[in-house]
Amino acid sequence: MEKLFVDKFGDDSRPLIKVRAPGRVNLIGEHTDYNDGYVFPMALTRNTTILAKPRTDSTVRLASSIEPQIVEFSIDTAVKKEAPKWSAYPRGVAEALRQKKLLKIGMDALVYTDVPLGGGLSSSASFEVASGLALLTVNRAKMNLPDLALACQWAEHQYAGVPCGIMDQYISAMGVKGHAMLLDCRDLTPRQIPLDNSQVEFLIVNSNVKHELVQGEYTARRNQCQRAVELISRSFPTVKALRDVSMTMLEECRLELDPVVFRRAKHVITENQRTLEFASALEKKNWAHAGELMYASHNSLRDDYGVSCPELDALVDICAAVPGIYGARMTGGGFGGSIVAMGRHAAMADAAVAIDNQYPQRTGLQATHFVTTAGAGAHVVQGLAG
Ligand code: GLA
Repeated sequence: MEKLFVDKFGDDSRPLIKVRAPGRVNLIGEHTDYNDGYVFPMALTRNTTILAKPRTDSTVRLASSIEPQIVEFSIDTAVKKEAPKWSAYPRGVAEALRQKKLLKIGMDALVYTDVPLGGGLSSSASFEVASGLALLTVNRAKMNLPDLALACQWAEHQYAGVPCGIMDQYISAMGVKGHAMLLDCRDLTPRQIPLDNSQVEFLIVNSNVKHELVQGEYTARRNQCQRAVELISRSFPTVKALRDVSMTMLEECRLELDPVVFRRAKHVITENQRTLEFASALEKKNWAHAGELMYASHNSLRDDYGVSCPELDALVDICAAVPGIYGARMTGGGFGGSIVAMGRHAAMADAAVAIDNQYPQRTGLQATHFVTTAGAGAHVVQGLAG
């Protein structure tokens, strides 16, 4: 990649920095982050990496290993929202850091990634976090990682137009190698829970479908949750988010709620319970119970939240029949993307074979997969001297 950097920007004596931010897989706790609930993601061992050199002016020039053009923008005044689409992420992050008065100079930067793009594994969050870390590093500026995650979420909302929760940016910034993170999205307190690799591994399977619905449906789910909170808080005024609602309270309000809104709320409430229970099952190394919770989560996302699709259902089904797989579920926003299966080391290869044999027959598509353990969060691999 150093060679590609020279091809794009020429060779000179400026110091080269290198930063990394991982993609993520969420083990459980889906569509709970924007309801002030619990999530349980882990960082992948796959990353977005940025090589960069500081400039003396306020221009950011950005090249990518897979895009032909070099994007150029200034951080002197508000960063422009301009094409190409992939530049929305670094532009948004640059603007967030500019507004916080952390940037004086720009950079020449090359980005490359081995996080599958559009696979529901937070390639965009990893790009945002890596962009932020690169800009901070060339500026010798400091920002704590939770604040960087919030700046990146702001960028995703304002520049990419996706009203995401905080999970993806937070785990990419704050992941700890060998651990999954139970995150309370209300007060952003993380609890790092060790994963014993000698006992469980994770197979990530990309369905290789991306349904066009994704963004509209995501926004629709957020609105339905908001609607549920409005209606439930009429009976229970202390309710600020679905996080505050129990199933008993929801049942009390059943007649007030449209049946679809009821099911959406039911998913969020039960998913929060499952996520807490999953964390304690993992701590007790009760893999079988943790696996059951993953299946229950998938069914709830499919039936109550309505965000699965036949391809994801087929993948979960195929994995469920493999001995040594404890559990499987869709991961991320849904409507395509990936599933995650948890199992013994030996079951990983068996599940991969089962998928290669059965998924094409069932869907006409090929899936791609890889085994992962919990990787490290964002970090500077090589900084400026001194
Ligand atoms: C996407 C969003 C996250 C989260 C998940 C669903 O990945 O970016 O904030 O809401 O969907 O759990």
